[in-house]
Amino acid sequence: MQGEVLEGTMAKIAVIGAGYVGLTTGACLAYLGHDVVIADNNDDRVESLKAGVIPFFEPGLDELVSDVVKSKKLSFVSGASNASKNAEFHFLCLPTPARTDGSSDLSYFEEGINEILSVLQPNSIVINKSTVPLGTAKRLQGTLERTDVHIVSNPEFLSEGNAIRDFLEPSRIVLGANSREHSERVAKLYSKLNAPILMSSWESAELIKHTANAFLAMKLTFVNEIATLCEITGANIKDVTVGIGYDPRIGSDYMNAGPGWGGSCFPKDSTSLAQLARSFGFDFTLLEHTIDLNQKHLDRTAQKVQRLVPTDSPHKKVAAWGLTFKAGTDDLRYSPAVEVLKRLEADDYEILAFDPTVKQNLTQLASAVVTDDPYECVNGADALIVLTEWKDFKLLDMKAVAKSMRNANLIDTRNVFNRIEMEEIGFTYIGMGI
Ligand code: NAI
Repeated sequence: MQGEVLEGTMAKIAVIGAGYVGLTTGACLAYLGHDVVIADNNDDRVESLKAGVIPFFEPGLDELVSDVVKSKKLSFVSGASNASKNAEFHFLCLPTPARTDGSSDLSYFEEGINEILSVLQPNSIVINKSTVPLGTAKRLQGTLERTDVHIVSNPEFLSEGNAIRDFLEPSRIVLGANSREHSERVAKLYSKLNAPILMSSWESAELIKHTANAFLAMKLTFVNEIATLCEITGANIKDVTVGIGYDPRIGSDYMNAGPGWGGSCFPKDSTSLAQLARSFGFDFTLLEHTIDLNQKHLDRTAQKVQRLVPTDSPHKKVAAWGLTFKAGTDDLRYSPAVEVLKRLEADDYEILAFDPTVKQNLTQLASAVVTDDPYECVNGADALIVLTEWKDFKLLDMKAVAKSMRNANLIDTRNVFNRIEMEEIGFTYIGMGI
C-alpha cells in the first residue's frame, strides 16, 4: 500500500474532525484518489499534522498520511469552514460523548455543522460519520433551512488498532438518506472498495450503528458471565468459546473473556441506545442489564487482586501491565484497565503501571505511577495484573518478573499467559474463566 495512490474519479472532500475516525477517513479517501482537506478546531493538532506528527497511535496511519500528503491528495486546515468552502462532500467526524444521563451530547456535532452551513455549495452532501442517536439526521435536515444541502448518514465501524484495514476492507458500508440519489452519490466515493453497500433510511442507518455496538457489548458481557461460571464450576472459558464458536450461528469472533468492556464507543453508545429506548417508552431491560453487569464484572476483576492481596495486607503494591482500553491503541477513554485500577486505588493499593503507548501518569488515577519499563514496574510488587492483551507482554522474561516481585501473584485478566507455565515459574495464577 505504501507509496502508491490509487487513481480514479476524484471528488473534493472536507473532513471535519482530525481524530481517530476523521484522520483515518481523510487519509483513506485520499488514498482512494479523492482530494481531501481535513479540518480541526484544535490549532495545535492541525500544526502537528502539518509537521507530519500524528497526534495519537494508530498502526500504519503515519505512513499513509505521509504518502497522501506527499502526493498532494491530503492537506490540513484550522476551522471547519476553511475545509468545506471548496468541497462537495463534507464528512462530519466529530465527538459525540455521553451526557450524565447516558444520552449523546451532540453539541460538538451541531457546532461543526453551524460552522460550515454558510459556506456549503449548492448540492453539497453532509455525510455523518459520528455516532448519533436515531432521529439526528432528520432533525438536522429540518433545521438546516437549506433545501440544496443533503444529509447522508454513513456510520463508521472501524476499530482502533485496525482502523486502516477496517476502512479499506469494510465488512459493509451503510448509507442512510431520504433519497436514494444522495446515497448513490456517496456510494461512488467508495467505488474502489469491495464491500456490500446497504442503502436505508436515516433512522435505520443510525440504529444500525448503535445496535452493532450494543450487541457487541452484550456479547462480551455474555462471555464474561460464562467465564465467571467457568471459574465457579471448573470449566474453561477458552474451550467453551471455541466449542460454541464452531456453530456458524454463533461465530468465533469477539469471544475473549476480559476485565470488562470499555473504550470510546461501547459505553457511550450502549447508554445512548438505552436512553433512546426509554425516551420512546420502551423498557430495554436486556441492554440496561448488560450495562449494569459490566460494572459488576469490573468489580469482580478488582476482587481477583483482593483475593491474592487482601485489603488489610501490610504490603499492597500492585503492578499493572496495560492501561488503554485494549491492545493496539493509546486510547484511554473509558478504559476498563483504568476502571479496575480506580477500584484498587479506592482500597489504598499502591499502583505502578506500564503500557507500551502510555508514558505519563493519568489524571483519571489519583496516585498510580506510570513507568516506561515493564520490569521496573513489577519490582517489589505483591501482585501483577495484566489488563490488556499486548503481544509484547508474552515476550517478557516472566522468570525474571517472578523473581523481582515481593509476592509472585499474577492476575491475567486477558488470558495472555499459560496457567501451567506460569505456575511452573512459581506464580500464583488467576486467569479469567480458566
Ligand atoms: P476524537 O475525539 O478522536 O476526534 C474528534 C476530533 O474533532 C478532535 O480532533 C477534535 O478536536 C475535533 N473537533 C471537535 N469539534 C470540532 C469542530 N467544531 N471543528 C473541527 N474539529 C472539531 O473522536 P473519534 O474517536 O474520532 O470519534 C468521532 C466520532 O466517530 C464519534 O461520534 C465516535 O463515536 C465515532 N466513532 C468512533 C470510533 C473510534 O473507534 N474512535 C469508531 C466508530 C465511530
